Amino acid sequence: MTEESESASDVVRRERFSGGPARGFLSSMDADARIFAADLAVDRAHVVMLAEQGIVTDDEAATILAALESVEDAGFDALPDGEDVHAAIETAVIERVGDVGGKMHTARSRNDEVATCIRYRLREDVLDAVETTLGLREALAETASDHTETVMPGYTHLQPAQPTTVGHYLLSYEQAVARDTERLFDAYERVNRSPLGSAAFAGTPFDVDRERTAELLGFESVLDNSMDAVSTRDFLVEVVAALSNLATTVSGLAEDLIIFSNKGLVELSDDYASTSSIMPQKKNPDTLELVRATAGDASAGLNGLLTTLKGLPRAYNRDLQKATPHAWDTVDEVTEAVAVAAGAAATATWDEAALADAAGEGFSTATGVADLLAMQGVPFRKAHEMVAEAAEEGADYSALDSAAESVLGDSLDAYVERAAVEAALDPEKSAASRDSVGGPAPESVSETLSVAEAAIAADADALGDERAALDSAAEQLQTEVSRFA
Ligand code: ARG
Repeated sequence: MTEESESASDVVRRERFSGGPARGFLSSMDADARIFAADLAVDRAHVVMLAEQGIVTDDEAATILAALESVEDAGFDALPDGEDVHAAIETAVIERVGDVGGKMHTARSRNDEVATCIRYRLREDVLDAVETTLGLREALAETASDHTETVMPGYTHLQPAQPTTVGHYLLSYEQAVARDTERLFDAYERVNRSPLGSAAFAGTPFDVDRERTAELLGFESVLDNSMDAVSTRDFLVEVVAALSNLATTVSGLAEDLIIFSNKGLVELSDDYASTSSIMPQKKNPDTLELVRATAGDASAGLNGLLTTLKGLPRAYNRDLQKATPHAWDTVDEVTEAVAVAAGAAATATWDEAALADAAGEGFSTATGVADLLAMQGVPFRKAHEMVAEAAEEGADYSALDSAAESVLGDSLDAYVERAAVEAALDPEKSAASRDSVGGPAPESVSETLSVAEAAIAADADALGDERAALDSAAEQLQTEVSRFA
């Protein structure tokens, strides 16, 4: 019951608008493989609702749902030719059960259908991205907990600035990625709304139950205005923007690890390094360089998306078909890069001796000496001037002493005990002295670490809740569908 079940005029019409030489150009079939499962779910929820509302009979619904089952079993690659997955699935249903299959598209359009499919699939992808951020945060927090006391150089403008601790450094990225997790969750909330039932944009005279299809598909709510619901791709922008921010955060981490390994402060695991085809001695940080470059892809995705969407008139335009792949590409690339960054961070070895040696380079303890004098009542600006002079003259105790004479008018020990100055010049003691909230001192790092661990656990719970909500909606849909079997 294939061609016979279609009326001759319908076949003629389909041939007429098949796209001619532009057929391949028009088609989104390749990209649509990604929403094949989503479209089947959307079809099922829609058909169940149509039956519940008496728009199709239970028998008709049962026939269509059985056909969808068979289409699913045959798989995406077995779909007939079509402009897109929505048209192809409908054709496949009609091929199997004849004209009644044509009732599946009652009270809807591909416009609300595709928007629903994208949101349905993207939810999973966003949750996967969230999960990889948690993996990275765990790797950073675990390594930080091994190194709350390990002193290292901290840099500004790539120059030695002040000694810090490895734990402090790693948690700086944990906290940044935590905000990326937060942004992804925030975007998720607005992805998780249903456009289904908006039809082409202008609603439908059928008595559809939009809340019901939203519920069957696990959406948190319904997008109200039907013209907005089919037109908007702001949810793609939000997700891709959050991912771009994440990729940018992680590119900084990758860059640091590349620099630290170049300085011999960190050794990357062989699993995350590469060698040269000609220079046998090389161990290159290629993997992290690719992580760093992913920020460029993400930014390109965001730009591509915004440029495609800019100035589109209401309501549906086929431009939207080209918006979606920017989101798929970005979510795939960034999620993979974050997972790789997590692996590289978790397996890198911090060379404590090299870090300790480097921590005092470039008179990085200078600020601590100035702070010490300021604590004795010397105006900070004067203390700064004095230590700056000592920096020029050898940056040791005797240089500080003569600078004190010339800038402050008295010997250094008139202001502060020699032992305190010696301690301030010691990188480890310097880091330990900065025990303000969020600072590099081991106790401050331990406190930040507890906060980070609690936040990771809370986010993991929230992720579990979202996944459970999707799973239970999928089960409910399955139950409703099987009632028609
Ligand atoms: N493949 C299309 C897309 O991704 C589906 C919607 C087609 N709608 C239309 N009015 N031509 O946007």
